[in-house]
Amino acid sequence: MNRRRRHRHRRGLTRNRQHRRLRLLLPNRRHRLKMIRPPSERVIACGQSESGKTEFLLRHFLTASRTKCAERQLVVDRTGEWFEREKYAPTATGLADTVRLLDDYATRKRWRIIVSLSNEEVEQLGAVLVGIPDVRKGYSYNVGGMALVVSEVDLLVPFANAPEELRSLWRRGSHAGLSIYADTQRPSNVSKEATSQCRWMCYLALYEPADLEYIRKQAGMMAPEMVAWIQGTQYAAALFDQRRRACHLIAPNGVVKRTLSHNPQDASVGETPSL
Ligand SMILES: Nc1ncnc2c1ncn2[C@@H]1O[C@H](COP(=O)(O)OP(=O)(O)O)[C@@H](O)[C@H]1O
Ligand SMILES: [Mg+2]
Repeated sequence: MNRRRRHRHRRGLTRNRQHRRLRLLLPNRRHRLKMIRPPSERVIACGQSESGKTEFLLRHFLTASRTKCAERQLVVDRTGEWFEREKYAPTATGLADTVRLLDDYATRKRWRIIVSLSNEEVEQLGAVLVGIPDVRKGYSYNVGGMALVVSEVDLLVPFANAPEELRSLWRRGSHAGLSIYADTQRPSNVSKEATSQCRWMCYLALYEPADLEYIRKQAGMMAPEMVAWIQGTQYAAALFDQRRRACHLIAPNGVVKRTLSHNPQDASVGETPSL
């Protein structure tokens, strides 16, 4: 065998091995031996169209340097905004193409892949990413954790009776090291399956009474100040921490103007949120 043929032969072998890995979803030895659960987080950005949801998620959560949760990102783009924004990112259309691309990138440390998928295809892919029934056989766990970015989450997950595959994206995501960064124009229409698993709810410009009522129910006495803030300035955001029950009012330039809390001792001015 000459040198060139030998080289091709070797490349073929490595590729075959990677293909086999995704199809069989063999547990990565490092994770299996040490039982390390990759870190993950779940966020929903809520606001009317053009309120700055995508920009906020990009600046505050999807910068890979900020966290290990978003080093590998799969963006499911419904509106075409990501395809337009990220001209040089790897892209795929349809499930077969997406799986092929994920397979190719399985061993890389950092990536952002933009794909176009129907709701049914996201459902099918969800089962592979999380790994039903064993998360240790899912794609996310085996690549060391990844992030799923989805827009219009209220149109993806039905309010009632969400299918098992979609429910498990949120319910089992933390076990699989799967972070989810979602956005919606109608927070009051988002399934409880999704909101109940999120630590971070980010509110940008919202005016619909049902959505404002939703904020009121969630944030109680902090709500009036949050609503005044998001309605008062363009691109102003209220980042609500469901775990600590505190809310950071964030200016368009990213500076935290004020932190609201149920406990007045926790409230502070200009403090950087510990995301
Ligand atoms: N904090 C901000 N400061 C300045 N411009 C912003 C800010 N947030 C968003 N924009 C701009 O507003 C437009 C809409 O933002 P985008 O994030 O795409 O909105 P959405 O995702 O809610 O539809 C974009 O052109 C974006 O650059
Ligand atoms: Mg957007």
